[in-house]
Amino acid sequence: MKFSVPSASCQFPASFAWGVATAAPQIEGAFDADGKSPSIWDVFSRKPGATHNGDTLDVACDHYHRYEADLDLMAALGMKHYRLSIAWPRIIPTGAGTLNTRGVDFYNRLIDASLKRGITPWVTMFHWDLPQVLEDKGGWPERVVVDAFADYADEIVKAYGDRVKNWITLNEIGVFLENGYGVGRHAPGRKEKPEVVNQAFHHAMLCHGHGVRAVREHGGKDARVGLTDNSRVTIPLTETAPDIEAAHEQFARRNARILEPMYRGEYGKNYLAHTKGWLPKIAANDFELIAQPTDFLGLNIYSGEIVRRGADGGPQHIAYPENFPTADSPWLKLNARCMYWGPRLAAEVFGAKDVVITESGAGYNDLPPVKGEVFDIHRLEYIRACLRELRRSIADGVPVSGYFAWSFMDNFEWADGYDRRFGIVYTDFKTQVRTPKASGRWYSQVVRENALV
Ligand code: NOJ
Repeated sequence: MKFSVPSASCQFPASFAWGVATAAPQIEGAFDADGKSPSIWDVFSRKPGATHNGDTLDVACDHYHRYEADLDLMAALGMKHYRLSIAWPRIIPTGAGTLNTRGVDFYNRLIDASLKRGITPWVTMFHWDLPQVLEDKGGWPERVVVDAFADYADEIVKAYGDRVKNWITLNEIGVFLENGYGVGRHAPGRKEKPEVVNQAFHHAMLCHGHGVRAVREHGGKDARVGLTDNSRVTIPLTETAPDIEAAHEQFARRNARILEPMYRGEYGKNYLAHTKGWLPKIAANDFELIAQPTDFLGLNIYSGEIVRRGADGGPQHIAYPENFPTADSPWLKLNARCMYWGPRLAAEVFGAKDVVITESGAGYNDLPPVKGEVFDIHRLEYIRACLRELRRSIADGVPVSGYFAWSFMDNFEWADGYDRRFGIVYTDFKTQVRTPKASGRWYSQVVRENALV
């Protein structure tokens, strides 16, 4: 055994795709530049009490004007893949019809600038910034959004498909709909009945279908497309057959609203159990759109729920004790085994053939750099623990082909505003200076070595 060589069991497959992720509304700023119209988040964040400190997206990381320098830093950190999103209100500000060429050109510049630095763009079509004009027509609960999205998806794939070969349709349908239309914590801040939210889910699934269709029609033969889901990960209390079976069963139930229609082309028994027998308004051919084959499943994985086989033979949810290690984001229980069980259950329960971790990380209220350094050891060690679990899943034959750290830099964390940081690069929002954190420097080495170091 030689010293100073990474352990062989920490090596990742040669073709593994490493990257970082962001989303347009969280980093771009320039909220009204070059013909962009307001998104629901621009409007919502201005409502008193909607966001922490009243933070808005107006400037964010000013990435719209600083993308060249940001990509330089990304390249300097050795990133080969970059997951970004396109702001719908920049492309079609009126929600339907006319294209805004100045908005289209921004992403031309961004995509070209990434490719020039050897960074492959992965483009999310929708990361929560619905044009407010479409919300004014009723928003996600209305089918008008589906028609508008179909046009938008066609336009962006036509515009960028010659250079973009990895497409993600929608990001975390469950989160933007439950939070935005169910509990009102996210834009547009509505509190609707479960039926209305369920109908919105159906429309979002149709938009996913149109995203896949658009890529197949205009993206070229080598284009790949998938959905990014924040599937609820169920972690067996013990890794023995009874608890693993319980985790399987619970995974199927918890993820029925999205993965069941997508992989099985129906609203089946788990969906109906969830909605208490209620079905959305479904038009002819809806399931043909929703269940088209995809090339990968994107999973955003941060945490998971503990499950065991209960006394009645069914899955039993076990609550975390109150003092279980938790990030500053209170929902983020630090259980790294989510990164083993998430991909494995997606593959075993729903037959996902290729899984890409499109987000993973931890939210803390990091303090500013001291002498140019931020020792975010909590984040670093959690990501390390997650990657070890991911490596274990690959060793067990789970088809995982990529990993994106969320996020490249600190940004607008939705209702939690700017104090809650997920970046591996620190953003000083007053000066817009970026400082790689310890986690960023370490992750850069992981990417270069293709191994846990
Ligand atoms: C998932 C979302 O896609 C992203 O926008 C958000 O910032 C992270 N989770 C952290 O909460």
